[in-house]
Amino acid sequence: MKFTSALAMLASLTTAIATSTFTPIKPPSQPLAVRSPYLSTWQPAGSGGGNGGYLAGQWPSFWNGRTLGWQGLIRVDGTTYNFMGDMSGLSNLVTQTNYEYTATQSIYTQTVNNAIKLTVTFLSPITPDDWKRQSLVFSYMNLSVESIDGNTHTVQVYSDISAEWVSGNSNNIAQWEYGTASDDVVYHQIFRQTQEAWTEISDQTEFGNWYWATTSQSGYSYQNGEDSVVRAQFINSGSLANTQDTNYRAISNSWPVFAHAFDLGSVGTSSVSRVFSIGLCQDEPIQYTTSSGVVPQTSLYLDYFNTQLDALSFFQTDYATAYELSSALDAQLQEDSVNANGENYAILTTLGLRHAFGGIQWTGTEESPLVWLKEISSDGNMNTVDVIFPAHPAYIYTNATILKLLLDPLFQNQEAGLYPNTYSMHDIGAHYPNATGYPAGNDEAMPLEESGNMIIMTLMYYAITKDTSYLEQHYKLLSQWAEYLVADALIPANQASTDDFEGALANQTNLAIKGIVGIQAMSVIANLTGNTADASNYSSIASDYVTQWIGFANATTDELPHLTLNYGNSSTWSLLYNAYADKALNLGIIPQSIYDQQSEFYPSVLEAFGIPVDTRHQWSKSDWQVWTAATANEPTRQDMIDAVATWAAATSEWLPFGDLYETQTGAYVYQFANRPVQGGLLAVLVANMGLIV
Ligand SMILES: *[C@@H]1O[C@H](CO)[C@@H](O)[C@H](O)[C@H]1NC(C)=O
Ligand SMILES: *[C@@H]1O[C@H](CO)[C@@H](O)[C@H](O)[C@H]1NC(C)=O
Ligand SMILES: *[C@@H]1O[C@H](CO)[C@@H](O)[C@H](O)[C@H]1NC(C)=O
Ligand SMILES: *[C@@H]1O[C@H](CO)[C@@H](O)[C@H](O)[C@H]1NC(C)=O
Ligand SMILES: *[C@@H]1O[C@H](CO)[C@@H](O)[C@H](O)[C@H]1NC(C)=O
Ligand SMILES: *[C@@H]1O[C@H](CO)[C@@H](O)[C@H](O)[C@H]1NC(C)=O
Ligand SMILES: *[C@@H]1O[C@H](CO)[C@@H](O)[C@H](O)[C@H]1NC(C)=O
Ligand SMILES: *[C@@H]1O[C@H](CO)[C@@H](O)[C@H](O)[C@H]1NC(C)=O
Repeated sequence: MKFTSALAMLASLTTAIATSTFTPIKPPSQPLAVRSPYLSTWQPAGSGGGNGGYLAGQWPSFWNGRTLGWQGLIRVDGTTYNFMGDMSGLSNLVTQTNYEYTATQSIYTQTVNNAIKLTVTFLSPITPDDWKRQSLVFSYMNLSVESIDGNTHTVQVYSDISAEWVSGNSNNIAQWEYGTASDDVVYHQIFRQTQEAWTEISDQTEFGNWYWATTSQSGYSYQNGEDSVVRAQFINSGSLANTQDTNYRAISNSWPVFAHAFDLGSVGTSSVSRVFSIGLCQDEPIQYTTSSGVVPQTSLYLDYFNTQLDALSFFQTDYATAYELSSALDAQLQEDSVNANGENYAILTTLGLRHAFGGIQWTGTEESPLVWLKEISSDGNMNTVDVIFPAHPAYIYTNATILKLLLDPLFQNQEAGLYPNTYSMHDIGAHYPNATGYPAGNDEAMPLEESGNMIIMTLMYYAITKDTSYLEQHYKLLSQWAEYLVADALIPANQASTDDFEGALANQTNLAIKGIVGIQAMSVIANLTGNTADASNYSSIASDYVTQWIGFANATTDELPHLTLNYGNSSTWSLLYNAYADKALNLGIIPQSIYDQQSEFYPSVLEAFGIPVDTRHQWSKSDWQVWTAATANEPTRQDMIDAVATWAAATSEWLPFGDLYETQTGAYVYQFANRPVQGGLLAVLVANMGLIV
């Protein structure tokens, strides 16, 4: 079948249904404030549950779909319009003319009564090389207004948040405080009255302080109190009462909201803007089991700032720099992606990077940081090896040291003797934010999967940094895992791979090649650390295994040659995404004839929205398709990328960018949403780097 580009398909859709355009596409959900597993606020867009991609007239939500009150109002010449959120009793909505996303921004262009243009920019910074900024769990909203009809207009703007941000259960009691920090930064601080450290309700965090801030300047006013009261105050007068309601109560009891407003006075053709910050401060966000027991981990931002308010003031006054750094990253990613595989590829990478960075959180000090990842939406495991693995191209592309910081806790735990199995552990804790390990070894068993992943990712990190000491430091454990691969990779026992939703199976072709590539990677690690006897031993084992593997895995009966899903079943096939590290690191262990054969085969199993992971279901994974595309020859690579981009634009799903979906209907499977694995969409960029080890 022939594929229309996602852009062309979208253009025809949008002219039919709405006045807003969407650049480059309308993603399932539009990122508003997305910086960590807990600051993850989105605007549902897909028609299945969203309003079609408009900021006004629908509540934003947490990544899992739960409403987070965030209301925006603009008053022009005395008439109030809703530019964001879904408050009741106000039917005037602004007119949205365009929505655009980049890797770090969502930009809504709106007009009010054909008189005023309102541009709302949501910036969730990504600064991979600047850990001071990266440590802050905060996002920006910038409101910019200008006249578009040649006249001046009096304009006031308003925005509030509800207390829904502080707990996953609206019966819980919220408390709050209004105050002024340095540099005229004014803020509402909102928190759960009963702090429950390290706990979650429906994935929302139940401790820490939320801040909703702006900079006080002429025309500023504030208020907190019941939603209808505070909003009516603005609608009626264009300013707030500068009063506080100290009747702390349940989140849903006369819904308290926390508002800022600005009277911008008379606005002409030069634009006037105001910047707001939203974020979360948790001093000790993580619990981590080390040899000395369970140790709370201090947030990295506290290494740079003495207090939460110092951090808040820095962030609020740093917009220009954060915008510049993030825009530079946006431009670089866009350009690299277009150069690699065109606009359709950029659709995916610019959407994917945010998930890789929105799923992590930083603790420790500048000298000794750690990075924690949540396996969002599947089960909440922490630093899951087979989630870091698909995501890792995003960290390799931006700053490979972040990958090391994600792997460090896994190495530390196992090297401290806190895990009894000889293969690699699956994750560092059954539920975020408790990195309490598995002293009984009872984690989800994916022995071949995770042992191969750890060795391969360690070498990937080395390929960028040339950090030989890291290889030396972990040589013993890496060798132990390599022994496991030698024993199990060629004839894999009946076990789950990372695609555990497909079920367990013996002799999986793709799992076997991960193990074999892992043995070859271990050979390189051995050589780099002066263990030359080990190097030649592992290398000859890997070569011998590859030859045998081709014999076991190559289908014998089909017309179109291909590898099977499992040995000996010629009617099966799967995406051979585990060949990726061989390509990306130029290991040369898999013969080119295999890549050529698979590149010829894949188009024959391409569905409307992509190629299924394997013959067991019509399901596919966005990340594995792009990984596989990175191993394929053109034009197969481009066709595979186009299909995933077409899906992202066409699906009616509305939870943030799922990675597991049905390739014929486009529906999500198991509602996998907002997962860090979307960092894998950058796989082609890393494969194009020409890494040599
Ligand atoms: C990542 O950023 C840190 C902090 O700036 C820097 O020290 C490190 O060298 C960077 N790593 C890579 C691989 O660029
Ligand atoms: C807010 O965004 C507008 C563009 O929409 C820009 O002109 C303005 O400078 C930004 N505000 C600040 C304070 O940087
Ligand atoms: C983390 O551990 C604490 C006990 O230290 C427990 O109260 C909390 O419920 C756990 N959190 C999760 C998300 O399981
Ligand atoms: C796995 O493949 C090997 C080699 O073809 C074969 O000997 C063995 O019986 C297979 N195991 C299973 C469980 O199918
Ligand atoms: C070890 O590295 C050297 C230098 O790059 C290379 O010549 C040799 O073939 C490598 N040995 C193995 C076993 O990979
Ligand atoms: C090569 O590695 C295998 C598997 O680890 C081991 O059994 C064998 O003794 C090694 N051979 C040499 C010569 O080191
Ligand atoms: C796989 O088997 C087919 C025959 O079914 C053959 O044409 C092809 O060359 C084999 N591929 C490889 C890489 O050996
Ligand atoms: C071969 O694969 C097909 C498709 O998955 C399956 O229905 C069949 O049972 C498999 N046959 C064997 C012998 O495993």
